[in-house]
Amino acid sequence: MRLPLIAGNWKMFKTVGEAVVFAKVLKPIVKDLQGVEIVLAPPFTAIHAVAEAVRHENIFVASQDLHWEKEGAFTGEISAPMIKEAGAEFAIIGHSERRQLFGETDVTVNRKLRAVLTSALTPIVCIGETLDEREHNQTLAVLDRQIQGAFDGVTADEISELVIAYEPVWAIGTGRVATPAQAEDVHAHIRARLRQWFGATAAEHCHVIYGGSVKPDNIIDLMREPDVDGALVGGASLDAQSFADIVTKARATV
Ligand code: 13P
Repeated sequence: MRLPLIAGNWKMFKTVGEAVVFAKVLKPIVKDLQGVEIVLAPPFTAIHAVAEAVRHENIFVASQDLHWEKEGAFTGEISAPMIKEAGAEFAIIGHSERRQLFGETDVTVNRKLRAVLTSALTPIVCIGETLDEREHNQTLAVLDRQIQGAFDGVTADEISELVIAYEPVWAIGTGRVATPAQAEDVHAHIRARLRQWFGATAAEHCHVIYGGSVKPDNIIDLMREPDVDGALVGGASLDAQSFADIVTKARATV
């Protein structure tokens, strides 16, 4: 019922030229793949070019962040309608790098989420605990706080349509992937909370994807878990063949 969704978060990598080359390599490899959603999140500068390059294909484009206002005197910021007009259909919100390095909070995540929903983009809301929080048995409490904060005032229908990315901070860029069992424990907890707070339909429809050192050689075991609906891939999404391998393997597990 939930199609697997594989998203590549390129972070601050790739010029426009490099991004278009990537799209041109990826397109023919995944052209005939049905039953999997593919999302690329280039830097802002390349959103339009990538969206043009993948037009009419089974690949969608996401922003990595945004500002919650539509427009205004906010030097350096980009709004949801601007992203949408550039060709994006998804928007990543609350990535741990934004939280840790750029002062993102649950309150700003919530503002951004509302802006994304108003602009008819699909949010990919990132949550996840640090190593210290995990070692102090705070993982589930941290996630509950992040979910409550992010989804304050959001309706069950809206929850149905969005994507939650569980990205344990200790697994990002470290090569230390969560075990399938660790991922499933958390994903099942997230879905149970969604059921409790937003109802069974929202919980069943909402995608909960995993991020943190996902590679072609670990995607299959992660995807076999019932509550893992896809992946948010960093480093391994920068190479078109490696990203295509992840997409193809994720599709094969359904
Ligand atoms: P890595 O796949 O490089 O660990 O990054 C994960 C991530 O932060 C995706 O948003």
